[in-house]
Amino acid sequence: MIVCHCRAVSDRAIRRAIREGATSSGEVRRACAAGGSCGGCKPRIDSILDHELRVRPRASESEPTSIIESS
Ligand code: FES
Repeated sequence: MIVCHCRAVSDRAIRRAIREGATSSGEVRRACAAGGSCGGCKPRIDSILDHELRVRPRASESEPTSIIESS
């Protein structure tokens, strides 16, 4: 489904940009051009971002943190 009509960007392309590391609408715009013209699609991009980041945390966020003992 086309989300950004100005740039003809689909939800799949936006989800791919998020999976590849985009965490904000600005990063999505740089990755796939969605939201780069009128901005009318920004609420939908934000909604996809919110959903994707909640459902699929980035690898660096899902890795356990190491415990460093101080002496
Ligand atoms: S619909 Fe996406 S920038 Fe206009």
